[in-house]
Amino acid sequence: MFLTIRISTRFDTLDYVDLHSHVLWGLDDGARTPKDALEMLQILRSLGFRTVYATPHQKQGEFLPAAPDIAARHADVTRRLQEAGLDLDLHLGAENFWDEVFLERAQCDQQPSYRKGPEVPSGRDTPAFLLEFPVMQLPPRLIEQLFAFRLRGRLPVLAHPERYVPLWGQRARLEQIARTAALVVDLAALEGAHGPERARAARYLVQEGLCHAVASDLHQVADARPVAAGMAWIKKRLGPARLQALLADAPRQIVAGQLPDLPG
Ligand SMILES: [Fe+2]
Repeated sequence: MFLTIRISTRFDTLDYVDLHSHVLWGLDDGARTPKDALEMLQILRSLGFRTVYATPHQKQGEFLPAAPDIAARHADVTRRLQEAGLDLDLHLGAENFWDEVFLERAQCDQQPSYRKGPEVPSGRDTPAFLLEFPVMQLPPRLIEQLFAFRLRGRLPVLAHPERYVPLWGQRARLEQIARTAALVVDLAALEGAHGPERARAARYLVQEGLCHAVASDLHQVADARPVAAGMAWIKKRLGPARLQALLADAPRQIVAGQLPDLPG
């Protein structure tokens, strides 16, 4: 299958950065085969992404691929990209679930973070790291804990803030979190791929300027259609400049460890 939805701007002039994807095959619930991985990356390139961060799950009891396996898989997919002649930089990150493993790693400042490839020696590369919470219950003393990361020079990046039920309709709380962590909405959620409540929450965050960036969170080839639809939705409702800010400017700032300004 190849994607038929395209946003109208020529993709080869775009330089979007995807902060959240599951394109490394066989590590989590994302790509299953090398073929899937390559096809997903070809689709992301066709949508205008020139830089993709692979963020395999790090979740105790479910998906906890080891660092050497992730590095080996990254090298494998990078080689396949080169063989296919695809002009796309694939870098590494991780989607850290807020569990005991994460908290232990964070105590030693060793939580897997956004980095620029397997050649990076052990230890952190960039200050930014991707994080997810249980959807029904936020961690206790959340703001204090997020702020403690900032005091240590780190930038927490919250995946799919539209999913967290305790934040639905809680504007003041969202504003408080957005002053401390980068909020990155899933593109597919904007078009209802994750249900009407998450769609409402995602649209609210993007329209009200309460999120810093958006990302694909691509798990399989079939996810590409709602991702493209989410991009088209932003472009139509908020204009191409906002799409550029959410998919290119802000992600670059985030990976550099800076919390982007929110619009307005
Ligand atoms: Fe994810």
